[in-house]
Amino acid sequence: MKPVVATSINAIRGAVADAKKRGLSVGLVPTMGALHAGHVSLLQAARAETGLVVATIFVNPTQFGPHEDFNRYPRPLEKDLEICGQAGVDAVFVPDVKTMYPDGFGTYVEVHGLQDLWEGASRPGHFRGVATVVLKLFNIVGADVAYFGQKDAQQAQIILQMVRDLDVPIRLRICPIVREPDGLALSSRNQYLDAEQRRHAVVLHQALEHARTLIAKGERNAAVVQQALADRIKATPGAQLDYAALVDPQTFRSVERIGKEVLVALAVRFGATRLIDNLKIESPHG
Ligand code: PAJ
Repeated sequence: MKPVVATSINAIRGAVADAKKRGLSVGLVPTMGALHAGHVSLLQAARAETGLVVATIFVNPTQFGPHEDFNRYPRPLEKDLEICGQAGVDAVFVPDVKTMYPDGFGTYVEVHGLQDLWEGASRPGHFRGVATVVLKLFNIVGADVAYFGQKDAQQAQIILQMVRDLDVPIRLRICPIVREPDGLALSSRNQYLDAEQRRHAVVLHQALEHARTLIAKGERNAAVVQQALADRIKATPGAQLDYAALVDPQTFRSVERIGKEVLVALAVRFGATRLIDNLKIESPHG
């Protein structure tokens, strides 16, 4: 079935209001489009758990830095709508920039602390843009449950904190990372990679798995694991390490000793393309 496509706030609110009158729960999957199997996993989770599934497709200008890829970010709308249809999405909200940021717009959401670390340090203003647009989408759609991917672990944590801090009446579900057969995490940005970069991009996943092995063998010194990650990335042709971090999965503060739960997070550049990946590692003996 083809989903309803709404471009105005009134139209998507109308579709949601009708569904709620029929007693349906509403699931929201915010995306920037260029949909792949990672997005589809979120749509499928929403389809399985809620009565009306709303996807949003909006390449959000406020989360891109001045030298980032806002203009060349892929926008294959027809194909995306087809994918939404196949995944059983009921309605797709596709606003334009003026609808989301009309003249005079001036209110932003900041999640202090978390927003300045790692991804936030490399991409100043990024999470302010993300938190702002996500809260707007929550307010526009009025969903019961929203779905995000663990692929963007820090983003997910920021949204969890925003919802908690601002008492936003919505439940969040964070879904596992979907990977290519060779382990590369799916990302709309993978299509920027040339064939050679694509071959080498598997190093992110391999380095994370290496970290898992070291920790499983008993390594508890975070600096040792971090160095091993960095060495692996630096030995890869065309790869430039942005950061390799072992952090507390809630606060994203660096850990020195690896305890029960650690999040290993990586950002690596291949030319102009920046890739991120992460792995949460639990060790029963802390
Ligand atoms: P986008 O990059 O399109 O991602 C939309 C959602 O899909 C995010 O929650 C992201 O974590 C999830 N996702 C992406 N790749 C994934 C993968 N390989 N496995 C599982 N989930 C994956 O993230 C954004 O858009 C934007 O910042 C947004 C939240 C829409 C705000 O503009």
